[in-house]
Amino acid sequence: MRILLIGATGKPGAAAHKTLAGRGHEIITVGRRGGGLRLDITDPAQVTEAYDRAAERAGTLDAAVSAAGDVPFEPVAGMTAEDYTAGFRG
Ligand SMILES: NC(=O)c1ccc[n+]([C@@H]2O[C@H](COP(=O)([O-])OP(=O)(O)OC[C@H]3O[C@@H](n4cnc5c(N)ncnc54)[C@H](OP(=O)(O)O)[C@@H]3O)[C@@H](O)[C@H]2O)c1
Repeated sequence: MRILLIGATGKPGAAAHKTLAGRGHEIITVGRRGGGLRLDITDPAQVTEAYDRAAERAGTLDAAVSAAGDVPFEPVAGMTAEDYTAGFRG
């Protein structure tokens, strides 16, 4: 399959990349600073553009995997309301 993998350089993303590529899938990587396509997935316009660019470059996509996220890791007692909100958004 041809798979769009967002967050391929992160920890779960790298594991997904290795496993999927090892099974013979074609992977198009996505990130803000690295990857075959560079975009910020928090911007819906950039997400739409990325699908268009991926389709132009590689043809039909069979699947999309997102391993990206930005979640605060803190002891529960130390987390603020802003941390919970940021985790929910992430
Ligand atoms: N690390 C762990 O052991 C672990 C375990 C379970 C779950 N998780 C979850 O997995 C997610 C990723 O964690 P991580 O440790 O791999 O973080 P990380 O090392 O910061 O990697 C995040 C990956 O996502 C990309 N990314 C982040 N924000 C993006 C955005 N707005 N647009 C496009 N790409 C974006 C980053 O690339 P760029 O920097 O180039 O954008 C990078 O490839 C988080 O939700 C985390 O809670 C992590």
